[in-house]
Amino acid sequence: MTDIPETNVARMPAQMSTDPARRRFLVASTSVVGSVGLVAAAWPFLASWSPSARARNLGAPVEVDTSKIESGAQVTVQWQGKPVWVLRRTPAMLDHLADPALLERLRDPNSEVASQQPDYAQNPLRAIREDVLVVIALCTHLGCIPTFRPDIAPADLGPDWHGGYFCPCHGSRFDFAGRVFKNVPAPTNLVIPPYHYVTDTVVQIGIDPEVAA
Ligand code: FES
Repeated sequence: MTDIPETNVARMPAQMSTDPARRRFLVASTSVVGSVGLVAAAWPFLASWSPSARARNLGAPVEVDTSKIESGAQVTVQWQGKPVWVLRRTPAMLDHLADPALLERLRDPNSEVASQQPDYAQNPLRAIREDVLVVIALCTHLGCIPTFRPDIAPADLGPDWHGGYFCPCHGSRFDFAGRVFKNVPAPTNLVIPPYHYVTDTVVQIGIDPEVAA
C-alpha cells in the first residue's frame, strides 16, 4: 500500500504540541475544520453561550457523511469535547487487519475488554461497516492524541510498521482498528464511541443504534 491520500484534517493532529493547554486549543481548531460543517458553524458561537447551552452542544450527536471521505483518509470531528476520527479504510488496510502476524502483536486483538467498545463494535474490525472506523482519538495511556500514520515502514517507526496510529508522547502504537500493540504504555484499545448510520453513508456519532431505532 503506497501513496495513501490523507486529508489536511487528518494530518493536523499529527503535528500537535504535547503541551496540554496548546493541544486542547489545537484540537478544538482541528475539529472545527474537520467536522463537516456542523461543528465548524457552531464553534465560534460557543464562547458566548451560557455554560449549560455549551455543555449541551458539546454533548450533541455529530453527523459525518462518509461518502465525502476519500478511501485511506480520515476526518476529525468533535463530540463531547473529544476528538473523534472517522477513517475510510482501504482494502489493503482491511487485509492487513486480518493478518495473523499482526494479531500476534496485539494486546487485545478480539476486543475482549468490553469497556472499550459497544457490543455492536466488538468484532475483528471494531466497526459496524468494515470500511469505516469511528474511534475516539485519545490514547488510552495518558490521553494524548495519537498521530495518523498510514505510511509503510517509515524510518522513525521501523520496518514492522504497516500503518496505524502512533502516540508520540510515550510511544504507544495502535492499528487501523484502534487495537493496541503489546509492549507499549497504553493498556487498552482505543475507545469506540456509540454511533449508528442514519443513511447508507451518514454516520451519527453519540447515539447507539437501538436508541436511534
Ligand atoms: S499518552 Fe499515549 S503513549 Fe502516553
